Order: sequence, then C-alpha cells, then structure tokens
Amino acid sequence: MLNIVIFGAPGSGKGTQSARLVEKYGLNHISTGDVLRAEIKNGTELGKTAKGYIDNGQLIPDALMIDILASVFDSFKDSKGVIFDGFPRTIAQAEALKTMLAERNQEVSVMLDLEVPEEELMTRLIKRGQESGRADDNEETIKKRLVVYHSQTAPLIDWYKKDGKYSHIKGVGTMDGIFADICAVIDKL
Ligand code: AP5
Ligand code: MG
Repeated sequence: MLNIVIFGAPGSGKGTQSARLVEKYGLNHISTGDVLRAEIKNGTELGKTAKGYIDNGQLIPDALMIDILASVFDSFKDSKGVIFDGFPRTIAQAEALKTMLAERNQEVSVMLDLEVPEEELMTRLIKRGQESGRADDNEETIKKRLVVYHSQTAPLIDWYKKDGKYSHIKGVGTMDGIFADICAVIDKL
C-alpha cells in the first residue's frame, strides 16, 4: 500500500495535488480539514468544538484528531493506498500515525513537502477567501495559521528527514508541473 503524507503550509496546494493523485493512482484521500468542515456543516458536537479552533487559526487537540484519523482510515476497504492531507501537523500526530500504521503492518511510504514562499501563500488564500468564502481565509486568520504552521508543524520536516521519508517538492509553478514532479517521486517508490 502507498501511504503518502502530503505536507505544506496553508495554501501550499495539498488539496489541489491530492485530487490529482486520487485520480491517477486510485488512492483514498483523508483531508482532516475537509473532515472537520463537514462536521461543522452538519452541526455535530465535533463540528461545534472544531469551529472554535478553526476560526481562530488554531489546531484541534491532538487526541481528538488522532481518533478521527484512525476511524476514517479504518473505514477504507481494500484500499490501494491513502493520501494524508493536513495530517500530521504536530510531532505527536506524526508519532501516532507511525504507531497506527505499524499496528496494521504498514508505514508511511513518503512525505511530500510542498514548499511555497509566504507571500505566494497569502495571495492564494486571500484570493480563495474572496471567491469561495472559506471562513478561515481572511488576512487575520491566515496570519495565525502561518504562525501555527511555523511553530507546531514545520518541525515535522526534520522529523521525517530523520525517519528517511522526506521528499522536497517545489510548490510554485503550474499545477501540472508540480504534479509531474510529485509523480516522478511516487513512481520511484
Ligand atoms: P486544512 O483544511 O488542512 O487547511 P490548511 O492546511 O490551512 O491548508 P489549505 O487547505 O488552506 O491549503 P492546501 O495546502 O490544501 O492548498 P489548496 O490546494 O487548497 O486545515 C484547516 C484547519 O483545520 C486548521 O487550521 C486546523 O484548525 C484544523 N485542522 C486540520 N487538520 C488538522 C490536524 N491534523 N490537527 C489539528 N487541526 C487540524 O490550494 C490553495 C489555493 O491555491 C487554492 O485556491 C488553489 O486553487 C490555489 N493553488 C493551488 N496550487 C496552485 C499553484 N500551483 N499555483 C497557483 N495557485 C494554486
Ligand atoms: Mg486543503
């Protein structure tokens, strides 16, 4: 099974490239952000809890996120592989993912780090906020998300380098060009 972690700051293109990977490789996709937004839309208890964090650009507590991740993962039957989009976001989540996969005789195949300069991230997210109105795509919340990314999530780059799974992807350029670079990495696995 291919277990691909697609990693990067807010707006780096994780969702965009995941959709292409799903289509090309027939993988299942877990976007923890999409899962939480669906819960908010459905007005569930989890959604109510999540909304407070998301609107403030903060992370949902690890224990909660890890439980959700495992239950979505186990809902896939006869999967060819899974793309983890937006998870892990903390060292605790990365360790939990490693344990969860090991318990199922699996492991992360590769971590793809989409690197995009901050100015470009800001431009993309403000534009999306104007077009689609995602509640956390406003300048103030985007800035908080970037601070959280640098303090809590970026340390995973070294963590995955030490784990031997890290792969750098230049996240600026055309969506097709970036996708081709990603496929070149996956096809070598
Ligand atoms: P999440 O939904 O994961 O949001 P995010 O990480 O902030 O990232 P985005 O989804 O905004 O960006 P993306 O990298 O997917 O880029 P996209 O392809 O959309 O998380 C939201 C919140 O949920 C978090 O803040 C947190 O509160 C909570 N949460 C989620 N997971 C959690 C976890 N594991 N633990 C705790 N809390 C969690 O692209 C962005 C835009 O750019 C699009 O408009 C796109 O069209 C455009 N674009 C893409 N590629 C290009 C390109 N090459 N050139 C130009 N434009 C491009
Ligand atoms: Mg996304």
